[in-house]
Amino acid sequence: MSTNLINKKDLVMVYLDEKRQFLVQIVPGLRLSTDHGDLNLTDIVGKAFGFVGKTHLGRDFYCLKPSTADLMMKMKRTTTIVYPKDLGYLLLETAVGPGSRVLELGTGSGALTMVLAKLIAPDGIVYSYERREDFIQNARKNLERVGHAQNVEFICADVVKTGFAQREVDAIFIDVPEPWDIVPKAVEALKGGHHLVSWSPNVEQVRRTIDALEVNNFKCIKTKEIIERELLVRQQGVRPRERGITHTAYLTRAQKIIAVQ
Ligand SMILES: C[S@@+](CC[C@H](N)C(=O)[O-])C[C@H]1O[C@@H](n2cnc3c(N)ncnc32)[C@H](O)[C@@H]1O
Repeated sequence: MSTNLINKKDLVMVYLDEKRQFLVQIVPGLRLSTDHGDLNLTDIVGKAFGFVGKTHLGRDFYCLKPSTADLMMKMKRTTTIVYPKDLGYLLLETAVGPGSRVLELGTGSGALTMVLAKLIAPDGIVYSYERREDFIQNARKNLERVGHAQNVEFICADVVKTGFAQREVDAIFIDVPEPWDIVPKAVEALKGGHHLVSWSPNVEQVRRTIDALEVNNFKCIKTKEIIERELLVRQQGVRPRERGITHTAYLTRAQKIIAVQ
């Protein structure tokens, strides 16, 4: 059984309040300055997750285990990323699990890559395609920081031109502006009966993607939008927050059919 103690190099979610939450990696001499005082984070090595510390101004802070959503949302971003609410649904629309071989396009900041790498460990692999080498470098650093780089192969290529080198993969995740250009490449790489999922912010993109899926022998095609609404739970009354993320993407899932010869 792993211990619940905070060690050097661990990632810790340092939480003061709703607006002051910091994902930090514990290294010697680490200090954090906030408008509620300074935090000496070397002191928390050896304490258990859940420990309550005090800033030099006497404010409490909590040392929490980061959730997978925390790791995604606090990544260094070079692009928009997939959101936890959407990814939770789409992962369950596939059969991906430990040992799966999956394809991803494009890597972007690596938020999706990280969750896939965690899911397919210890012996699966994520082939993550991206046309920008600088984005791959950032994503690789993000994955190394959270300890999930070992099951990822990054490939720098424009998939519209090159296609995918892999065959018989267990799932394909597509998060690019023009998924319809990728569908003919995806069908060559995916196992029969298995899943392709795709994110698109606009309905026009969904229309073109579904046209391409139908032409390329995909069935069980469905598009959904996941709407998330947080409740404010307070003594004076419980109601939804006025603001929040109102729209992220339309989510499409489909399965490949092997055409009868
Ligand atoms: C929205 S971002 C992906 C974000 C990623 N899902 C995440 O969660 O961090 C889209 C990425 O796809 C890449 N891209 C778009 N078209 C591509 C293509 N044809 N081949 C390779 N990469 C492509 C872009 O450079 C960009 O980094």
